[in-house]
Amino acid sequence: MKSRTTRFAAIAAASLLSASVFAQAQKLKVGLMLPYSGTYAALGTAIENGFRLYLTEQSGRIGGREVEFFKVDDESEPAKAVDNVNKLIKRDNVDVLVGTVHSGVAMAMAKAAKDNGTLLIIPNAGAVAVTGPMCAENIFRSSFSNWQPGYAMGEVAAKRGAKKVVTITWKYAAGDESVAGFKEAFEKAGGQVVKELSLPFPNVEFQPLLTEIAAAKPDAVYTFFAGGGAVKFVKDYAAAGLKNAIPLYAAGFLTDGTLEAQGADAEGLLTTLHYGDGLDNPKDKAFRAAYAKAYGMQPDVYAVQGYDAAQMLAIGLNAAKGDVSKKAEIAKAIVSAKIDSPRGAFTIGASHNPVQDIYLRQVIGKDNKVIGVATRALADPGRGCKM
Ligand code: PHB
Repeated sequence: MKSRTTRFAAIAAASLLSASVFAQAQKLKVGLMLPYSGTYAALGTAIENGFRLYLTEQSGRIGGREVEFFKVDDESEPAKAVDNVNKLIKRDNVDVLVGTVHSGVAMAMAKAAKDNGTLLIIPNAGAVAVTGPMCAENIFRSSFSNWQPGYAMGEVAAKRGAKKVVTITWKYAAGDESVAGFKEAFEKAGGQVVKELSLPFPNVEFQPLLTEIAAAKPDAVYTFFAGGGAVKFVKDYAAAGLKNAIPLYAAGFLTDGTLEAQGADAEGLLTTLHYGDGLDNPKDKAFRAAYAKAYGMQPDVYAVQGYDAAQMLAIGLNAAKGDVSKKAEIAKAIVSAKIDSPRGAFTIGASHNPVQDIYLRQVIGKDNKVIGVATRALADPGRGCKM
């Protein structure tokens, strides 16, 4: 006769097995919270496209489970963020949250994810806080921190001989933190940020600020804008006669996914970002061919971040055999992985933000041509993160 402990162990093993078999039989509910309207609408679509492309390559399954999507348009509107994220967490009961683009909205998502223990993968928003003071075992980012491209450009601007720089951006976390990263590196290298200009998100009345820039006559300008606002800023900068007078340096979002609309006004601009055109790696070549085939256009940085969010989710959930409650196993797998990204392989640091090369790019025709590596394996400092 079997001893009690053996019988107990057998029952426990059987119930564990059935729990994971049960988990695998259920569809994996993925909540996409992205902007499908407003100045960042195109960015949200590119992220979803990238995410779905990876899923298609995996025959529609992650961690052994078929994926079912739930979608919310967050409108890049922080005031609606709590309601929107609760639609996914409380109403739809999603297993995983993927979102979003706007830092203010992402911070509300991170708080909800932390409070409810929902797995969250951020496929764009660079809010420093979410991999800083708000960091958590169940929160990951597949993109960048706002600090990263800014910091890299601060070094580039100093190397290129700029001494006095004016910055201009939207007044919210992304703009503020991008400028702060730039300023940190630029002033460390002996430069000086002489004026910090801003306007509320998503306003595009740049004219009065461009007049101030012309009057200040700095050696260069540093900027963060993205999406529809970036298209208008580049056009207005040129129309104000500044393009050939004062070099414009930017986080690469200024010219990513926007070059068709910006045309000749973007030609020659220098930007820093973790992706670009002409990266000579096999993963990027395959990704671009597959993306073009699926969607009839070339991918941009947002598409890459969406694709990598899906890859990270798969790495975590494959290790946990599809069981989203196994947070420690998921985190361990993601943090130990080398992620085979179109941007080049990267890793996820202790605060769950990518550690990655930041490229220097120049607009040549319709390309953000990679002309060098601005900063290699740049990690966000993750200040204030205690896991
Ligand atoms: C952000 O809000 O963090 C943000 C938005 C758009 C970008 C980059 C960062 O292209």
